[in-house]
Amino acid sequence: MGYTITPYITEQEIRTRTKELAEQIKKDYEGNPILLISILKGAVVFLTDLMRALETEDVTIDFMVVSSYGHGTESNGHVKITKDLSVDIAGKDVLIVEDILDSGNTLSTIIEILRGRGVNSLRICSLLDKPSRRTTVVPLEYTGFVIPDKFVVGYGLDYSEKHRNLPYIGVVEFTEN
Ligand code: IMP
Ligand code: MG
Repeated sequence: MGYTITPYITEQEIRTRTKELAEQIKKDYEGNPILLISILKGAVVFLTDLMRALETEDVTIDFMVVSSYGHGTESNGHVKITKDLSVDIAGKDVLIVEDILDSGNTLSTIIEILRGRGVNSLRICSLLDKPSRRTTVVPLEYTGFVIPDKFVVGYGLDYSEKHRNLPYIGVVEFTEN
């Protein structure tokens, strides 16, 4: 089955919205250190733009890789951590930076795991939100764009690992041939 990609959210729209989110985050954290955590790979593009838009002095970043199958170093429910954080998050103000919030299943398990490590606070910032797909309630403090139930790619998001490098977000439309 073939497919086409139709532009949906432009680079400029993403840039403008990211700046707004960064300003809101800066205000809310009142100059306190912020640890940004992203789950590889989809969120890296958004993370790198968001961190540069954040005019706060003490910003650090870290990454996790999780999978819902296979062997991991830690598991909780059906989500396994295949690459854990490299820093101790106890007492920290953690902001999870996500590309898209879909069913919420993965993120709700990660929240549980991170809360169990004694964070001072834990919030979530997601560039995209597909609320119609939610099966698990996840508290989302910062949302870039609410989108309908369509499959999107670009700006970090993939279809079979491709199209993460598109600078904009497009909708995948499947064709007959
Ligand atoms: P969930 O919220 O546990 O269902 O998982 C969300 C993850 O599914 C995201 O982090 C993406 O990796 C992937 N995902 C969900 N919707 C899309 C989409 O429209 N395009 C690309 N990846 C998606
Ligand atoms: Mg993801």
